[in-house]
Amino acid sequence: MDASHLQVLPLSGHTGAEITGVDLAVPLDAAARAAIVGALHRWKVVFFRGQHLGHAEQIAFARQFGELTYAHPYDAAPPDGFPEIYTVSTDNFVGQYGVEAEAARALRRRYSYTTNWHTDVTPAVNPPAASILRADVVPAYGGDTTFTNLVAAYESLSEPVRAFVGGLRAEHRYGAGLARNGEAHPGEEVIGRNRLVAHHPVVRVHPETGERALFVNPGFTSRIVDVHPAESRRILEMLFDQVTRAALTVRFRWEPGSVAFWDNRATAHLAAQDLDELDVPRVLHRVTLVGEVPVGVDGRESVLIEGEPFRSIPSVGVDVELDRA
Ligand SMILES: [Fe+2]
Repeated sequence: MDASHLQVLPLSGHTGAEITGVDLAVPLDAAARAAIVGALHRWKVVFFRGQHLGHAEQIAFARQFGELTYAHPYDAAPPDGFPEIYTVSTDNFVGQYGVEAEAARALRRRYSYTTNWHTDVTPAVNPPAASILRADVVPAYGGDTTFTNLVAAYESLSEPVRAFVGGLRAEHRYGAGLARNGEAHPGEEVIGRNRLVAHHPVVRVHPETGERALFVNPGFTSRIVDVHPAESRRILEMLFDQVTRAALTVRFRWEPGSVAFWDNRATAHLAAQDLDELDVPRVLHRVTLVGEVPVGVDGRESVLIEGEPFRSIPSVGVDVELDRA
């Protein structure tokens, strides 16, 4: 696929662009790949519509941009033959956390509501560099995903506050957003067996663009380290307000065949909030690119506190799986 018809159409002042004129099901040439990466660096999330991808094509597309991780640290049941695919669906609670189907239904409202804004898998010491999510089954209306730009969030802070937050580090763990509301994660038993906790710089330097991003999110950031708990609460409240400012966001409406590709080092996103009462099917499939360990403005790397890095699967395994498709 060459770049001759490729167009980048920005969708908001700070975040998101739609890319047209490209078929993701066939290999990209260097110019098309560079155009997509360039748009990703500028707009942080890019969207494609009308793509016809199965699991194998989605994996093949993603591998042109980096190594893939295993589906999810807590997903022991990805689709048969595709260990890289993490399916975003209420039913996934059953396989992922061993929650019974009826219990999963009952939990959905609370869980999706309180999951809130997040960046994918930040409790790992090396959160994914990027996520690629494709829509399979989506409702006729509702279920939009909203994205924010963490670089714009940092850059729109005042200079004294930028200097202050540049020296802070924060703890990230599963269930942080729920714990703040006094609730337990429905998958606590599974999470507890292989807990992931990392300390990341509050301001991380993007390894490719050199930009600084405000790398905290309400879903997983539990506290600012080395400060008093009351200070931590107030600092996080200010930073969460900053990263979720409506002016920095874009809202994406899914159609079957839509694909979103976001830089997970420079964005946070808000999962659909409006479907819990409607009980309509919504199934999307995600792959994530292996990420590096974040680095702060002072050059210090993130620190692994509990668990293992979120790694790729062996590439020999990927080839075998692709052949089977
Ligand atoms: Fe997510």
